[in-house]
Amino acid sequence: MIINVLTLFTSMFHDFLSESIPFIAQEKEKLKVNLIDIRDFSENNRRQVDDYPYGGGAGMVLKPEPIAGALKYVNDHLSSAPTTPIIYFTPQGRLLNQQIIREYLEKEEITIICGHYKEIDQRIRDKYVTDEISIGDYVLSGGELPAMVFIDAISRLLDGVISDPESAQTDSHEEGLLGCPHYTRPYEFEGMTVPEVLCNGNHKEIDKWRREKSIALTNRIRPELLGRN
Ligand SMILES: C[S@@+](CC[C@H](N)C(=O)[O-])C[C@H]1O[C@@H](n2cnc3c(N)ncnc32)[C@H](O)[C@@H]1O
Repeated sequence: MIINVLTLFTSMFHDFLSESIPFIAQEKEKLKVNLIDIRDFSENNRRQVDDYPYGGGAGMVLKPEPIAGALKYVNDHLSSAPTTPIIYFTPQGRLLNQQIIREYLEKEEITIICGHYKEIDQRIRDKYVTDEISIGDYVLSGGELPAMVFIDAISRLLDGVISDPESAQTDSHEEGLLGCPHYTRPYEFEGMTVPEVLCNGNHKEIDKWRREKSIALTNRIRPELLGRN
């Protein structure tokens, strides 16, 4: 999968892409991330990319030309075909969840626009953006963290990235349930012991216990998830 990221802050991605699962995904050549600095497409020699909003009011607006220029660069130099989807991360978008992440797994190439300032110019959204996604009902200063959230969540599902794919399949939200409790050695820690069922080697019972714990936890914390899948 190729992910093109249009951002004002390419350096924010460097550590993120050099560690853990996103790094492994790239190392195994399952993922390629192209970082494109929107400022490189500024039409002014001070590399300015923002301007005052029409109609006045607080905040600056990310100008349309640098974003359009960056998208053209992606199409002309990084892709063999016009790339879709073009995702804009915004608190106004569809709320991201595991099912949506799985939908994007089908794509070979994805382009992401990270917003900044008060907003990006609406005409970019109208003409180029195909999907608008929010990572939650709160406001961040830019789309970089949402882009990283998305890339991380996708990376771990790409074929062959995690050595034991069953691990990802039994995570929270895969079956509309939250995950169950997990324990490792030592058997006793600060006066607390491991539930006996996990120590008896009876995998049928262990699976049953885990499923019951997942259902109970989901029922208590996120009852609206039950029955969604
Ligand atoms: C300060 S926010 C702008 C918020 C915008 N004025 C609004 O009311 O929806 C700047 C940028 O951060 C990103 N952003 C902030 N919160 C986000 C969220 N919850 N999900 C996805 N992107 C977000 C978007 O790219 C947005 O353009």
